[in-house]
Amino acid sequence: MQSETIVADVVHALDQITGGRVITDLSQLSSGKNRFVMIKTSNIPGKEVMETPGLVWGDPQMPVRKLAVVMTLTESVIELAGATGVDAVVAHHPIADAANSGGVPLKSYLSLYNLAALELHEAFHGLHPGIPFIHGHQTFRVDVAYGGIPGSVVFFGRALPEVKTVGDILDRLERFMGAGLEQELLAREQEIRDCWEIQETIVANGTRLFNGEVNNPVGTIIHITPHGGLTPEHLEQAVREHPDADTVICSISRVRPDSPLVQKAKELGLNFIVGNTHAVEILENGMPLAYALQSLLPGVEVVLFRERVTSTPLAKAGNEAIRNYARDIADKYLIPKKQ
Ligand SMILES: [Fe+2]
Ligand SMILES: [Fe+2]
Repeated sequence: MQSETIVADVVHALDQITGGRVITDLSQLSSGKNRFVMIKTSNIPGKEVMETPGLVWGDPQMPVRKLAVVMTLTESVIELAGATGVDAVVAHHPIADAANSGGVPLKSYLSLYNLAALELHEAFHGLHPGIPFIHGHQTFRVDVAYGGIPGSVVFFGRALPEVKTVGDILDRLERFMGAGLEQELLAREQEIRDCWEIQETIVANGTRLFNGEVNNPVGTIIHITPHGGLTPEHLEQAVREHPDADTVICSISRVRPDSPLVQKAKELGLNFIVGNTHAVEILENGMPLAYALQSLLPGVEVVLFRERVTSTPLAKAGNEAIRNYARDIADKYLIPKKQ
């Protein structure tokens, strides 16, 4: 019979997946020896977070029978884990005390449900070529600080053999992300709730073509991540470096149709495809991580937690009872009375 899996085995599995990038003893937090231990900050006082790949909270000896892979730890994640018998949550995005646990310290909340929490963010990035693959190309050059800006990631790739045109990339993204199903789900929700104004993050962020035609051939692709700070001048430089480039794909974040980057692509005669957003990173990165954990921890049941965020006009949110309640509370207690 197979021996019981414990939290320490999950840490070990993450260390195997990353080829040794995980914290295995606490001295690595301050020694500067682990380059994946890093501070993320916008210099807003008190709001920075340190990435600590590996175990964040929980007893390393605790048994793990069920494990959830999530993008971001939230109170909803903790509650779902608690309700469905999950012993350990592996979050991709870094975990900050209280911010990722509904405003209360992680310690008290996670202990209540006997839940271990682990994180694996930058230490996971760059381990696989999946994001370019989903977008239809194979990378031959990756720059993680294009133009000298750390975090401005640019992939240069060649279209996969089965990807001949812009339309092939758009179809491929639809197919991998299951956009049709998300649209159907949203339409049903709108119908059931009798509210056609509900929007949902994946449907609202469908793939777009901002320059070029679906029949245009694709060969060499410049795949950008606009939130990293890439400028039109950088795009020009990228084309100088790779004059055979015919297509720009942006993903993780996106630009508007009137963006200077789109303008530049038009000037340069490049197709401009808007691909996946961060909202589907659970599929791009979360699922491969979950499959790797499942393979390394065969005795554990691995589940994937997905967020589905919707937007509803206030006047149609909830039901009649809760709207009456909310209006009443606001009137009686929250809105300052006129003197
Ligand atoms: Fe990521
Ligand atoms: Fe992310």
